[in-house]
Amino acid sequence: MIHSLAFLQATTSPLAEHRVADMFKPLATPAHTVFDLSLLVMGITGLIFLVVGGLITYAIIRFRHKEGGDPDEPPQIYGSNQIEVAWTVIPILIVFALIGVTARVVAGVQDQAQPPGTIHATVIGHQWWWEFRYPDYGIVTANELHVPITTGPGEHPTFLKLESRDVIHSFWVPQLAGKTDVIPNRENTMWLDPREPGVYFGNCAEYCGTQHANMLLRVVAQTPSDFANWVAQEKQRAAVPTDPKLKLAQRTFDRLSCIACHAVRGTPAFGVVGPDLTHLMSRQTIGAGVMDNTPANLRAWIDNPQAIKPGCQMPSMKLSDQQLDQVVAYLETLK
Ligand code: CUA
Repeated sequence: MIHSLAFLQATTSPLAEHRVADMFKPLATPAHTVFDLSLLVMGITGLIFLVVGGLITYAIIRFRHKEGGDPDEPPQIYGSNQIEVAWTVIPILIVFALIGVTARVVAGVQDQAQPPGTIHATVIGHQWWWEFRYPDYGIVTANELHVPITTGPGEHPTFLKLESRDVIHSFWVPQLAGKTDVIPNRENTMWLDPREPGVYFGNCAEYCGTQHANMLLRVVAQTPSDFANWVAQEKQRAAVPTDPKLKLAQRTFDRLSCIACHAVRGTPAFGVVGPDLTHLMSRQTIGAGVMDNTPANLRAWIDNPQAIKPGCQMPSMKLSDQQLDQVVAYLETLK
């Protein structure tokens, strides 16, 4: 047993977790371009601050009122045409230069040529969780977006379409890209190309209701072969339990109203209101990041989601202890 555990640790390399969503440590091209632009803007505006602040300080000190000095106002003269033209034209040029580079960065982080091997995913914001669809693979999952890393320039980037089912949300994973609003009846686009494997943390960045702060998201960036394995796993329908106890557990689940909101591909459950549960056990958290995905947490969540995430769309179904055990046992089979 100990031996097999050691073996497991040796073969599964846990992904580095980029928990601190630090936008000053960009690890993908869009985040880099946004970061570079912010440095340029900070540089230019910092320089303006120094020049203007310096001139004001100089004028305050040089021309301050002196004891015994002339009590009258200084001579009132007409200004200088050259200086006035300069301080009108230079700021206008600076503003247009900033508009130009900003527009270029905005266009660059929204769209890019989609080379062969581009991964397509659709992000759908819900109160208060994220739905991720991969139309090319027929995969639907929630709250954890899997993407391959980019090992060379322009290599399999992930292209995202962003939609909302209800209100305006904002998709933000600071180390990978800037914020993009997720707006009802509108389709926004952006793309990602993480350079390092790891789990990148992000969150909703537009106030969208009571549980806005608990609308967390993770981007799991994997090597191309790990990503391919994940896709192959997620494409499969839910495994049908063979154990009689688990069969009974599945029947209990299918008879409850869980299936009105949740889908488990390959079973009678095909609700679309809540997260797809086909491979629930492949996810690290439940409730869009509010708690780790453990059997005890899952049981507490199903028992009363409102105690954990007040205001969320999932009601307490007032299940008996036996029903809870069965539902949890069944969900645990959804690897
Ligand atoms: Cu969704 Cu804030």
